[in-house]
Amino acid sequence: MKFESDIGKRQRLMAESVGGISRRHAILNEMRITPGDIIIDVGCGAGHLLTHLAKAVGTSGKIYGLDPNK
Ligand SMILES: C[S@@+](CC[C@H](N)C(=O)[O-])C[C@H]1O[C@@H](n2cnc3c(N)ncnc32)[C@H](O)[C@@H]1O
Repeated sequence: MKFESDIGKRQRLMAESVGGISRRHAILNEMRITPGDIIIDVGCGAGHLLTHLAKAVGTSGKIYGLDPNK
């Protein structure tokens, strides 16, 4: 997802930091996702979590991302 403002750039820097990576791992562990799950990330930002969610649900699952910013 590409933002018109620089919020996407800031979110990318946060997502790629050690804190961002460990936060993502903690979320994924807590969710206990199985293949075929259908997940919506409300406030998906630039979509960094979406790519990991998509891998976890596999081709039989679905991932949706919504964000009010553009
Ligand atoms: C830090 S990003 C999180 C991105 C992603 N969910 C993740 O975990 O990597 C937070 C996002 O929440 C969005 N947001 C803030 N308030 C919101 C609201 N009330 N409803 C939906 N999204 C919101 C912001 O636009 C921002 O892109």
